[in-house]
Amino acid sequence: MRIGKARAHTNIALIKYWGKANNQLKLPQNSSLSMTLDAFYTDTNFQLLEQSTTTESSFSLNNVVQEPASSRRVFDYIETLQDRYRLPHDKFKIQTTNHVPTSAGLASSSSAFAALAQAFVAAYQLDVDKQELSRLARLGSGSATRSIYGGFVEWQKGTDDQDSIAMPIDEQPTIDLCLLAVEINFASKGISSTAGMQQVVNTSPYYGVWRTEAERGVIQMKQAIKANDFTAIGTLAERSALAMHALNFTANPPFTYLEPETIHAIKLVEQLRIQGIECYFTIDAGPNVKILCQLRNVKEITERFKEELGNVNIIKASFGPGVINLD
Ligand code: PMV
Repeated sequence: MRIGKARAHTNIALIKYWGKANNQLKLPQNSSLSMTLDAFYTDTNFQLLEQSTTTESSFSLNNVVQEPASSRRVFDYIETLQDRYRLPHDKFKIQTTNHVPTSAGLASSSSAFAALAQAFVAAYQLDVDKQELSRLARLGSGSATRSIYGGFVEWQKGTDDQDSIAMPIDEQPTIDLCLLAVEINFASKGISSTAGMQQVVNTSPYYGVWRTEAERGVIQMKQAIKANDFTAIGTLAERSALAMHALNFTANPPFTYLEPETIHAIKLVEQLRIQGIECYFTIDAGPNVKILCQLRNVKEITERFKEELGNVNIIKASFGPGVINLD
């Protein structure tokens, strides 16, 4: 019985990926840059079933066997990987545990598909390097490409399956940089990231500007990382998040992930900054806000958020590692 076990951490994009150039290969329209987080991760066991078995493939998430409809994306993904290596469509059992509280407002798809890709290659004992692993993760979810590495990671958009890969920038950064995931709103997102991206790519007149600015943002962010410049990192991250959310307002029809509490949090970050407590925000395809700050300000920022936003749940994270085999 062959089984692969892997752990991958989630990542937060500091320069966002927003738009696909190829839906099937999940090639992005723009390069992006992220920070892998230590506090949130996914553990996955991928077990190949004996050929003689009558048991069907299954996928369980946090010990709950998923219905066929919710397993479809995962099953299709495994078939894609099997086809890629000309393997038979063996049956399998996937057991996944997400250590990513939904309340944190962090997408678990980045850690989920990175862990699944690693568990898959381990079960089949495929000789795959990290670059290939980042391609495999990308086929599951774009942001998973970056979770193969720890620390600061760039996803080079590339032009095809071969060169659209993640590259580590610094896997063990020493910069004082924390992320506070603030749970401000439970509203389930009305529009998936895939649908949101498609809408802006197809309809926003500003999409070309977004692409140019994102590439520039990646270059500038790499300079800021090299210079250990917290202020520049935070400023650039905030600008990228604002540009992504502004772009959504310019789609036709327009849409937004922002809720009233999100704006409240943005204003609070601005206020804190004016008061000398340096912090910045970033927001993904949902209403929750993540704060970038330095260790010495964590306590004060946490207290101010709890005061102003009604005892919200806040989880602190810092740099996490790349994907690993568990065993
Ligand atoms: O890869 P997806 O479909 O989870 O999309 C990720 C989109 C953002 O989180 C908003 C940006 C990013 O680069 O991770």
